[in-house]
Amino acid sequence: MSGMAGTRRSFSFYRAARALPARLSGTSWRKDWSDRAAGHRVRLYRGASLTRAVVRLARDPLAYVASLNDTAGVHVFHAFGQDLVHLTDALLVKEMLVDRRGDFEKGVFFDRVRRLVGNGVVTANGAEHRRQRVYLDRFFKREHVIGLAGLMTEVVRSDLAGWDGTVDLDAALHRVAFKILGATMFGTELDAAKFDGIHEWLAVVLESAMLRTVVPGWYLRVPTKKNRLHDTAMDRLRSAIVAAMQSHSGATSDRLDLVSVMRSVDGPDGKPLSSEEIADQIVSVTLAGAETAATALAWLTVELAGDQALQDDLREELAAARARGVEYGPDLAETPLLKRVLSEVLRSRQPIFAISRRTIRDTSVGGLVLPGGTEVLYSPWAMHRDHVNFPIGPSFDPWSSGASGCPISQETAFMPFGLGPRHCVGERYAWQMMWIVVGEVLAAVRIEEARARYPHGRPLATVIPGAVDATVRRLAR
Ligand code: HEM
Repeated sequence: MSGMAGTRRSFSFYRAARALPARLSGTSWRKDWSDRAAGHRVRLYRGASLTRAVVRLARDPLAYVASLNDTAGVHVFHAFGQDLVHLTDALLVKEMLVDRRGDFEKGVFFDRVRRLVGNGVVTANGAEHRRQRVYLDRFFKREHVIGLAGLMTEVVRSDLAGWDGTVDLDAALHRVAFKILGATMFGTELDAAKFDGIHEWLAVVLESAMLRTVVPGWYLRVPTKKNRLHDTAMDRLRSAIVAAMQSHSGATSDRLDLVSVMRSVDGPDGKPLSSEEIADQIVSVTLAGAETAATALAWLTVELAGDQALQDDLREELAAARARGVEYGPDLAETPLLKRVLSEVLRSRQPIFAISRRTIRDTSVGGLVLPGGTEVLYSPWAMHRDHVNFPIGPSFDPWSSGASGCPISQETAFMPFGLGPRHCVGERYAWQMMWIVVGEVLAAVRIEEARARYPHGRPLATVIPGAVDATVRRLAR
């Protein structure tokens, strides 16, 4: 990817941060953190306790990360001369994402995908990020998203034609979500071979994405078979997307796809955006949007198969809305049960396992002092099943919280699309897409059975159910 070298940051989590106290002994390090704790429960891991934590993480990452919420609001892991801070307290997370937003940039997780996404919206920081969000908002604004509903519906209907009997619903929904993204980003002329190329390489990249964020940077440069495959997949995915862009027949004012929208935008120099910048955004949006929505939908099918009465109620609500002439869109006010059910899926089965940030200067959250260069993580997945805010924990129960999924006690604990200036730019698109997929699927088939290969989830780029072996029966239209 040309131009990438200029955008790749030299800073790495595994190198000592600038402002950290240099090489403190274990005792002074502990004292230093307890001085900064500002009354928060802080747990520290270094030496033997760090080794125990790593062993537990390696054995069962989901159980270990969930357990962190039960023991403290802040966990600090000291490895390779650097502190990694994991926040479990929702109020501290909110302060980081909203009130102190200017003191944080994207962190180590995002550094690891720069080879692929360049300096697109997922990785850009500061003024550059704000510039990109302004023009991306043209594509993701409400009216534009509504304009994409017809295209999304067409894609789902044509894919659904083949659904009957036994189906892997996880694979099917990933394919549908990916086709929707492909059509709305490139337009309908994206040919099957190009689509398959992008789909195939994206799957390889996502498979090892999570693991690559937690291993040291030097390890990723060792030419192991897995590292070589991942690097090849990133390069091929990027090339496949650039090839798809080049086959785009050109922007006209009536075209709504993302490539067309970006071709109508001027860059900071007053010239059209470069092909490189357009490619960075297409890859960013594909990476951020394809997996999240598909994973949430796959979990939903498991829940709906297990509760046939809920499935019937939902089917009925959606059919009644259609009969009243309600059009698909990003606001689900006319389909309150659907809103409730999807919100509960995004709570109990939140797809995103972990999100990372890095302090760009000395700062504090809730009075807890964080030196510049500190890597900070939080887990939306674990936060959404924290028993303090959500007494029902990981169980799926659409009636357990408010209609929007917010617990009454602490609204900010529910943040499926993030908060602050970096919240999900695709949120409206995601609500509409989920409505269309659920609406069309339930109108066409009954999901009789659906079993996830990993009923408790498996953490890859998102917390996936694995294959969902399902039986679906076609309904008379
Ligand atoms: C249910 C589905 C989805 C969920 C749960 C979700 C969740 C999120 C979250 C939590 C963030 C914030 C990440 C951070 O703070 O670092 C985010 C960012 C983002 N999402 Fe989504 N998302 C979903 C669907 C989508 C879709 C469908 C698209 C595009 C079509 C999309 C595009 C993006 C992009 C581009 C960003 C980066 C925004 C930025 O850094 O300014 N997402 N998403």
